[in-house]
Amino acid sequence: MKRNILITGGAGFIGSHVVRLFVSKYPEYNIVNLDKLTYAGNLANLKDIENSPNYTFIKADIADFGLMRRIMTDKKIDGIIHLAAESHVDRSIKDPFTFARTNVMGTLALLQAAREYWESLPEGYNGKLFYHISTDEVYGALDITHPDGTQAPFTTKASAGDHMAFGTEFFVETTSYSPHSPYSASKASGDHFVRAYHDTYGMPSIVTNCSNNYGPYQFPEKLIPLFINNILHRKPLPVYGRGENVRDWLYVEDHARAIDLIFHKGTIAETYNIGGFNEWKNIDLIKILIKTVDRLTGYNEGHSDNLITYITDRPGHDMRYAIDSRKLQHELGWEPSLQFEEGIERTVKWYLDNQDWMDNVTSGEYEHYYDNMYRGR
Ligand code: NAD
Ligand code: TYD
Repeated sequence: MKRNILITGGAGFIGSHVVRLFVSKYPEYNIVNLDKLTYAGNLANLKDIENSPNYTFIKADIADFGLMRRIMTDKKIDGIIHLAAESHVDRSIKDPFTFARTNVMGTLALLQAAREYWESLPEGYNGKLFYHISTDEVYGALDITHPDGTQAPFTTKASAGDHMAFGTEFFVETTSYSPHSPYSASKASGDHFVRAYHDTYGMPSIVTNCSNNYGPYQFPEKLIPLFINNILHRKPLPVYGRGENVRDWLYVEDHARAIDLIFHKGTIAETYNIGGFNEWKNIDLIKILIKTVDRLTGYNEGHSDNLITYITDRPGHDMRYAIDSRKLQHELGWEPSLQFEEGIERTVKWYLDNQDWMDNVTSGEYEHYYDNMYRGR
């Protein structure tokens, strides 16, 4: 079936994997990638598919309501996968306004533009979908608990088969929202608007909340690519607090596969949590990362351990995130494809093989690569 799908934030980390998957898997779809190309957006992430006949790029700001209306109509959009966002917690602590502007007002502008266009069509909302990509951070923080005094991590059957966990609680789709950072507060607000558009206007929508992603093309301000880059340049590795916070890591291509499945088979008005039951204490993950980089660059184990530098904790630093993704696994049959050790090996190799990409984004050179804003048909 022919479709015109708008993917926002497609020049960013996760968005570029989603765009690549849709452009290559669905030649019958027109994929429109709309991105403002902030510091985090880089068209070099999509070099391999940029000339595909079913792919169009538009440089635009989702908060520009007039432009969003025009693009919906001009491109006859019938499905939206909304990833565009300001995404880094540390930046949100320094500059919360930009987060409210894009993640709240931008999401609202896109919703309203979709609503006006879809309601103007004879078939209305039939066959339309607004799919909003969100984060587990909206749920707040979980505790690290030691049942029966057992030292975490411990093996649990609490969620899906055996896996290692640092606590007995998990985020489920019905967990109440309790965001702590300006980033998670802005994402929570965007999620609420999406659900409100469903409940008030009947807009067909789905929200998914995913755990921390890692893999190729992630901007080196996030833990894994930042630390790989710092090890290669012999720079300190700034560990917040005592490195005891726990994150639940998912390989980015597994997230993109989940998005594909949910876009096509998910139930309207539902929420799905996405995660791989893969919890790691930061310091343990950092040690694996150091070992992997040292081995792949020909150094002995322990060569880079002295780069670890404990620094003042991030304000409001959430202790633990852990996703229960059983709903997605049981209802739609999704499963993560990679073990963490394999994903880390693949990721480190990618950054080693693509040091030009890393040098380019750390120099900011790519930022003026594409200066044309959208001008119309
Ligand atoms: P990213 O920062 O790498 O990319 C964001 C993209 O959005 C960039 O290409 C940027 O140019 C674009 N953008 C920013 N503001 C815009 C605006 N006003 N108009 C148009 N485009 C704009 O982010 P990411 O890590 O790829 O995250 C993508 C989405 O997934 C976000 O919504 C994020 O909240 C969510 N998410 C991320 C993670 C993660 O671990 N990275 C986990 C769960 C959910
Ligand atoms: P990050 O990649 O920023 O993702 P998020 O804050 O959205 O989970 O950080 C992952 C974890 O690593 C988080 O607990 C903060 C920690 N961290 C550091 O200790 N040092 C750093 O320099 C960064 C960027 C993160």
